[in-house]
Amino acid sequence: MRVFENLLVTGGSGFIGSNFIRYVFEKTDFAGRIINLDALTYAGNPASLERVAAKMGDRYVFVHGDIRDSACIARVFDEYAVDSVCHFAAESHVDRSIVAPDDFIQTNFVGTFNLVQAAKMRMDRITLFHHVSTDEVYGSLGDTGYFTEETPYDPHSPYSASKASSDHIVRAYHDTYGLPITISNCSNNYGPYQFPEKLVPLVILNATEGKPLPVYGEGLNVRDWLHVEDHCSAIWKIMQEAAFGQTYVVGGRCELTNIDVVKRLCAIVDRLAPPLPSGAPRETLITYVKDRLGHDHRYAIDCTRLERELGWKQTETAESGFEKTVRWYLENTGWVEGVRTGAYRQWIEKNYEHR
Ligand code: NAD
Ligand code: TYD
Repeated sequence: MRVFENLLVTGGSGFIGSNFIRYVFEKTDFAGRIINLDALTYAGNPASLERVAAKMGDRYVFVHGDIRDSACIARVFDEYAVDSVCHFAAESHVDRSIVAPDDFIQTNFVGTFNLVQAAKMRMDRITLFHHVSTDEVYGSLGDTGYFTEETPYDPHSPYSASKASSDHIVRAYHDTYGLPITISNCSNNYGPYQFPEKLVPLVILNATEGKPLPVYGEGLNVRDWLHVEDHCSAIWKIMQEAAFGQTYVVGGRCELTNIDVVKRLCAIVDRLAPPLPSGAPRETLITYVKDRLGHDHRYAIDCTRLERELGWKQTETAESGFEKTVRWYLENTGWVEGVRTGAYRQWIEKNYEHR
């Protein structure tokens, strides 16, 4: 087991990062301090960690800064005596990467390079650099087969290409300089605090409000869904126990077509939210729209290595996890309203004509 005293979490105000910080403080025996470095883009929201910040006192530090800025990173490493890193910060939405790829290259690739370079320059005190990545680096599967740690990289979207590049530079710093790194490549996450541009929260909120539910193409693309807290437990296990240089793929063994996801969510919203004024079931809101450019057909993970070598198990199923997530969005209207104001709305209106 590894002991971290000053753990730098990048992108800790985003969806997975904020769940991870909460998980580490509340569900592990971590006794150190977390420094959350986040640029607060449209996807970052300090409200996601309000309660943690109040409860943890000086064991939680927020730094408003950008991983594209190497001087800022150097200051953070030295001012807070950073000895370990869990790197989430990224531009994370495929549709945005298709319309405006520049920030994806700058943050996901150059930002990651800045971080490993800062860690390498302080190698005497860095015990671990964990890089959080995606299964999308492996490209697209046909109707059979699974991604494993041995699958060759074959990214298609600007998002997945930028993440693949970041994986390579992190691995290169291990292979060349001996930086102690681990990497995880995870499938699609869902759960609380996810920005409502991604499929699950978008459908929950639109269904609740009786708005159209945009399904790309025929809705037959397949994703492997994992509850965010199960992803966080996998990351923590890998950070604690994995050999340096090791990669693990993480997934939910939960393959669903997009249309199936949307219909399941509609059924839960029908059960838990007040009925639509028309009395119609939410499924009637489904609207097939123009397909995403270069839309990957299927992602599916075989996470046997993680289960066998580190004993990781997920705790949620799609049934339990989707229901919890719908309840969370219905109950946390203040958070939802907060993230739906401002830049997010303007950007969507400008760039997504089909909505
Ligand atoms: P998110 O978009 O919700 O959050 C990203 C966070 O990074 C935000 O808080 C944002 O403000 C911050 N950020 C962006 N650019 C920054 C910069 N230049 N400097 C500092 N902070 C910056 O993303 P997420 O869904 O929480 O994803 C987190 C990580 O997990 C990403 O690296 C992503 O590639 C990976 N991942 C996501 C999924 C998923 O399903 N969401 C699955 C597998 C892997
Ligand atoms: P998304 O949540 O954007 O995650 P990713 O692109 O990283 O897999 O999309 C999940 C799937 O749902 C993907 O196949 C695209 C599809 N999708 C829709 O059909 N409609 C939508 O409005 C969105 C956002 C996604």
